[in-house]
Amino acid sequence: MLIAQLSDPHIDLERPHKAAAFGEAVRHLLGLPMRPDALIITGDCTEHGHPDEYGEFQALLRPLPMPVYLVPGNHDDRAEMLRRFPAPAGALPGFLQYVVDDFAVRLIGLDTQIPGQGRGELDAGRLEWLDARLSEAPERPTLIFMHHAPLKTGVQVMDALGLDGSAELCETLLRHPQVARIVTGHVHMALTQRFAHTTVMTCPGTDATLQPDLSQPRKMVVQYQPPVCLLHAWSEATDLLTFTSLIGDVPWTVLHDGQTWAPAQPGAPLRS
Ligand SMILES: [Fe+2]
Repeated sequence: MLIAQLSDPHIDLERPHKAAAFGEAVRHLLGLPMRPDALIITGDCTEHGHPDEYGEFQALLRPLPMPVYLVPGNHDDRAEMLRRFPAPAGALPGFLQYVVDDFAVRLIGLDTQIPGQGRGELDAGRLEWLDARLSEAPERPTLIFMHHAPLKTGVQVMDALGLDGSAELCETLLRHPQVARIVTGHVHMALTQRFAHTTVMTCPGTDATLQPDLSQPRKMVVQYQPPVCLLHAWSEATDLLTFTSLIGDVPWTVLHDGQTWAPAQPGAPLRS
């Protein structure tokens, strides 16, 4: 079983390089030697949540033969996503939060969005739903995917946009050791951290992958790096293994040195 993950395409019709980068990521998936069984996209599918942006996003996904599973990010419009990507049966009403039971690893998408805010949350209702779903299948290895990450990055700009309810999520997951991984987006960096009995991994964005400088935690030093996708592979022999696959042939470009933005940058300052 192979589940591919992309994140944070931030499709923006005013800045077409974002759609071009996402199109490159889709072509990358089609060219992999092993075809993924499914693709998960961990939020911020669009920059502004406009219907036209979702139209472009859907058009870019069309060449993919495998099912695509989404959760909303802080830049998304949940209602528009639910119209275009209906949640499966059993989803939490009013949210894009659901279980996929079609693979060797059970997939659970969590909706961490607070409409209109950069921060995310898992409130009591969303966590109770998660607790009930995990109680249904305690023997099945499970991968949770969501937008906001339950960790501190050390970059203050990012941590101001963190996840409320992380401690309560940790308490919930301590009761369910079958959760093999939590994977997220949002931070535009590749981070790994322990969490309850499991591991959190963040997937960089197809639009912008950042390189933090932890010696300057109040500033966000922003460099473009080559975008990546994560490939989550499971077998009896290996359990859940995550590979990082570099997309395209992109040179490293410094966009912000901690003092000023470079003059010629492809697009406006980055937001998350
Ligand atoms: Fe985000």
